[in-house]
Amino acid sequence: MSLDIIILAAGQGTRMRSSLPKVLHPVAGRSMVGHVVHTAQQLTPTSIQVVIGHGAQKVREHFADQSISFAVQEQQLGTGHAVAQALPNLTAERVLILYGDVPLITKDTLLGLLAKVQPKQIGLLTVLLDDPTGYGRIVRDSDGKVQAIVEHKDANDAQRLIKEGNTGILAVPRACLVEWLGKLSNNNAQGEYYLTDIIAMAVADGFTVATEIAQDAIEVQGANDRLQLSELERHYQYRSALALMKQGVTLRDPARFDIRGEVIVGKDVLIDVNVILEGSVLIEDNVHIGANCYIKDSVLRNGAIIKANSYLEGAEVGNAADCGPFARLRQGAILGAQAHVGNFVELKNTRLGEGAKAGHLAYLGDSDIGARTNIGAGTITCNYDGANKHKTVMAEDVFIGSNSSLVAPVNLGAGATTGAGSTITGDVPAGALAVGRARQRNIENWQRPVKKK
Ligand code: UD1
Ligand code: CA
Repeated sequence: MSLDIIILAAGQGTRMRSSLPKVLHPVAGRSMVGHVVHTAQQLTPTSIQVVIGHGAQKVREHFADQSISFAVQEQQLGTGHAVAQALPNLTAERVLILYGDVPLITKDTLLGLLAKVQPKQIGLLTVLLDDPTGYGRIVRDSDGKVQAIVEHKDANDAQRLIKEGNTGILAVPRACLVEWLGKLSNNNAQGEYYLTDIIAMAVADGFTVATEIAQDAIEVQGANDRLQLSELERHYQYRSALALMKQGVTLRDPARFDIRGEVIVGKDVLIDVNVILEGSVLIEDNVHIGANCYIKDSVLRNGAIIKANSYLEGAEVGNAADCGPFARLRQGAILGAQAHVGNFVELKNTRLGEGAKAGHLAYLGDSDIGARTNIGAGTITCNYDGANKHKTVMAEDVFIGSNSSLVAPVNLGAGATTGAGSTITGDVPAGALAVGRARQRNIENWQRPVKKK
C-alpha cells in the first residue's frame, strides 16, 4: 500500500533555550529531524512532508539538498492542525505520522507497525511507562480494544493511572484522515486541535486500532531539553558501540566512545577510550586506535596503528603504517604501507611513500614523498607564498636533514640528501647533497659583553 510520511517539526522547543530550532539539535552528529528523515527514507514512501513553523527557514536550508517537501504551520494550534497543513500535498493511500524531535525510532519498529494494520484499522504505536505524566493515555474497553486517547491534562484520576502512553506515531488511511481532521475541535484543556482525537472518531466510524507496543521506550522518546538530548545521545552511542563489538571490535570502554557518522569495521580492531569517529570512516582488520583520537572521513588499512591523541581528517593510513602520538593528518594525507609519522607532525595534501618516515616535529604540505625517504625533525615545507600553494616532490630514498626548510616548488631526486638546517630553494639532483646554510666560522677568545656598573 502506498505511503506518505508526515514529520511534525513546527514546535518551538522553548526548553532548549537555543536560537537553533529544536529539531536541528544534533544527536550523534546528525540533526534530530535528520535522523527521522533518514529513517523515513528507508521506508521508500511516495513523499516525505516536514511540517515546519518555528525556525522554518533554518529547517528548509538544512535539507536544501534533499528531496523532501515542506508544509508551513504558521501558528502552532496543535498536532491535528499541524498534520492538516501537510494533507493537501499527499496522494498515497495511507499516511504515517512521525515527530522531528523523536530521533531514535527505527525502521524495524515502523515496519512492524505498518505490517500489523488491516483494512478498516488505524495503526498506533504505544509505550508502557512507569511514569506516564504528560503523555496521552490509551483508553481501552473491557475487551482491550482501544477506544480513545485522552491527553494528560484532560484525563480524570482513573485515566491518569493508565501506564500505556501514546507515542504519537500512527498510521491512518489518507481519505479518513482528511475527513476526521476536518471534524476536530479545540474544545479541551489546552485549546488545541489534538491529532489524538481522531482515534475516538475512527472507533465511532467502525474502525479498530491495531497497536504495537514499542519494545524500547527510548526509541519513542522525544527531547525537549538538553538533558533529554544528552540521554538520547548516550543511548544512541551505546547502541552503536554494541553493534561494533558484535562485529569484532574491542572497545576498552563502550561508554567512552562516540560515533558521529557511518563506520565500517573489520575484525580484531582495538579502540581505546575517548575515541571519536566522525563522518565516514573505514577501519580494516587489526587496526589499533589509541586513547583520545579524533578520526573523521578517513581510511585505516589493515594493521594500521593510530597512537594516542592523534587528529585525522580526510586521511588514509596504509597497511601497518603508524602515526602519533599527537599526529595531525589533514585533508589528503596519505601514508603508504609501513610509513611512520611521529609526534607533532602535520601532513596536509601529502603522500608519504611506503616505509617513509617523519618522526618528529614537521609540517609537510602539498608534497609527494617517495618510498623510504626520511624526514628529519623540524622539517618544514614552505608551500605557501602568501598567494599560491606550491608542490614539493621527493623521489625515493631521500634524506632530509633536521630543521630543513624546503621552499616550494622544489624537486629532490632519488637518494638526494639535505644538510641539517638547510634552506632549500632550488632542485637537488639524484644522489647529491645540498647544503643551504652559512658555513660555521669560529672567533677565538670571544669576549662576552658585560653589564655596565
Ligand atoms: C503529544 C500527544 C500525546 C503524546 C505525546 C508524546 C497530541 C495532542 N498529544 O503530546 O498524546 O503522548 O505527544 O510525546 O498529539 N507540533 C507541531 N505543531 C503544533 C503542535 C505540535 O508541529 O501545533 C509538533 C511538536 O513540534 C512536537 C510534536 O508535534 O514535535 C508533539 O507536540 P507536543 O506539543 O510536544 O505534544 P505533547 O503535548 O507532548
Ligand atoms: Ca512532547
